[in-house]
Amino acid sequence: MQIIDGKQTAKDIKREIAEEVAKLVASGQRPPHLAAILVGNDGGSETYVANKVKACEDCGFESSTLRFDATITEDELIAHIKGLNENPNVDGFIVQLPLPKHINEERVIEAIDYHKDVDGFHPINVGRLSIGLPGFKSATPSGIIELLDRYHIDTKGKHAVVLGRSNIVGKPIAMLLMQKAKPGDCTVTVCHSSTQNLKEICLQADIIIAALGCPEFVKADMVKPGAVIIDVGTTRVADATRPTGYRLTGDVDFANVAEKASYITPVPGGVGPMTICSLMKNTLLARKGELFNF
Ligand code: GUN
Repeated sequence: MQIIDGKQTAKDIKREIAEEVAKLVASGQRPPHLAAILVGNDGGSETYVANKVKACEDCGFESSTLRFDATITEDELIAHIKGLNENPNVDGFIVQLPLPKHINEERVIEAIDYHKDVDGFHPINVGRLSIGLPGFKSATPSGIIELLDRYHIDTKGKHAVVLGRSNIVGKPIAMLLMQKAKPGDCTVTVCHSSTQNLKEICLQADIIIAALGCPEFVKADMVKPGAVIIDVGTTRVADATRPTGYRLTGDVDFANVAEKASYITPVPGGVGPMTICSLMKNTLLARKGELFNF
């Protein structure tokens, strides 16, 4: 069994990006600029945005964070999004989710200019991904593909079982894995809360992508010997022994499943660091402006 080290891979990728940015700047161009919109005071969102700002520093990017009170109206938020759409000094931006209940996330995401949608959440980018056209790919799924690629994991003709059907992970990773590409070319089954015989389906999987947000859901008796296990779960579970008062827990019972797997991602240090890396890659692509010119 080999542990897939997302932390180290992310470090390598950030170094590669930083080298490319240094060349860009040496040739007289400005570095990429990522902006983040943060609404309210959600602890998780604050941490995510702080990590994105830190990754920008590591890559030599400029970054800015626009903070708004949880009471901001949907129209006010959309006006700020339009401002970023039109700002020539911002290459890409994200609106950190979740948003307060009174704001319609779909309307907010559709207000983002898809040329600057480095999260890959806009329906145009989702549609382009689903038919294999260039566009911004959602960060977590493209981070998973990058890990499979860098670890030379053979995916052609394999049965990939995706647990979870979210717009951010489950649906786009299913699309990417079924694409005629390398990594890709899988036979994909997507399981969700209404799936019957889930254990039997998992036992047929060569690759399991666990993205259902249910701590330690995937047990050893659901895994075929030699399967590749990708754990996307990051649930905060209360833990009084930690200074933070919680620990991040994946969707896989790591200790027991690892014994049966050929490759497995840990939590933390697996998929998580790769997600931010993909966002950095998308921002660099946005800066270069070549993605939609064909
Ligand atoms: N909330 C949880 N994950 C994400 C993400 O990847 N992007 C944004 N914008 N919000 C999130």
